[in-house]
Amino acid sequence: MTLRAVVRGVGHYLPERVVPNSEFEKTLDTSDEWIRSRSGIERRHFAADNENTSDLATHAARAALASAGLKGSDIDAVILATSTADLTFPSAATMVQSEIGMTTGFAFDVQAVCAGFVYALSNANALILSGQAKRVLVIGAETFSRIMDWTDRSTCVLFGDGAGALVLEAEEGAGTSDDRGILATDLHSDGRYRDLLYVDGGISTGTNGFLRMQGPEVFRHAVEKLAQTAHHALESVGLGADDVDWVVPHQANIRIIKSTAKKLGVPLSRVILTVQDHGNTSAASIPLALSVGVERGQIRQGDLLVTEAIGGGLAWGSVVLRW
Ligand code: UT7
Repeated sequence: MTLRAVVRGVGHYLPERVVPNSEFEKTLDTSDEWIRSRSGIERRHFAADNENTSDLATHAARAALASAGLKGSDIDAVILATSTADLTFPSAATMVQSEIGMTTGFAFDVQAVCAGFVYALSNANALILSGQAKRVLVIGAETFSRIMDWTDRSTCVLFGDGAGALVLEAEEGAGTSDDRGILATDLHSDGRYRDLLYVDGGISTGTNGFLRMQGPEVFRHAVEKLAQTAHHALESVGLGADDVDWVVPHQANIRIIKSTAKKLGVPLSRVILTVQDHGNTSAASIPLALSVGVERGQIRQGDLLVTEAIGGGLAWGSVVLRW
């Protein structure tokens, strides 16, 4: 028998305000046509002025707990993937912990930018497999609208706000790839590329800063590294592209998603797509896509999923799990 981290519940939250591409035409030299054709994005959600990342995360956490039939007090650990925590400290995870009525266990943030949720899943898996936690709430939540330079058309049209969450629970499996739960994880980073995507503010500047990105360079790395990590994770447990029911990619750009699927050998009909409705929500994009995929009736119990993401750092990775 092998211990597995199995998905018990999933949920998400999107702020009420929906911003179509046409909004940007009013203030920038851009067009709905450019944004759609270069990124696949049609609209995104932006948080209200009084909504912070921990608020979005709390809504998603409550939805995931409800879908699992659990309360906050049933959870041993909260891991929140975000690069836009409300404050420098304490972690947004501890804010969520108190909001869901969890007074025991522990909570912490993971900061790996767009790869954050994959890193958080891998950490949650390790906590469960090592016996340090039985039930882990894993959240991805972001308010990237707070770090946009609204005069930079090459970045501000691409990002959005949102949150998604999973409840993972320890369960005995047979030790084969037919088991439900996380089957493989594969994480990487390479700080030599830290200038390709970063925020030009923080403790060292005394400002929040704005997101800066060399888009085409990040694009090039993404196409190469995402298929590689997904292949590697699948291979490590004796699986291949034909075994995959759904690729659940980080939703940054439809062209990256299509190229990666092609390299992996998985048709686009087996890829969960939400980029058109959410834009790039960084660490929230994969749990949002998982939750929406379940809501749409695409992802079902027993399906084999591979998630993959890349972002600032560069940091990237993938997780193979059976839903
Ligand atoms: O989530 C973290 C990881 N991030 C990503 O994966 C993002 C990766 N990169 C990308 O998705 C793409 O590189 C972008 C969508 C950011 C840009 O697409 P691209 O096809 O690489 O375009 P480009 O940056 O090469 O720009 C092409 C042209 C440029 O004009 P010139 O120099 O050819 O005259 C840009 O100035 O498009 C121009 N441009 C725009 N035009 C209208 C850039 N942004 C805009 C815009 N509207 N919003």
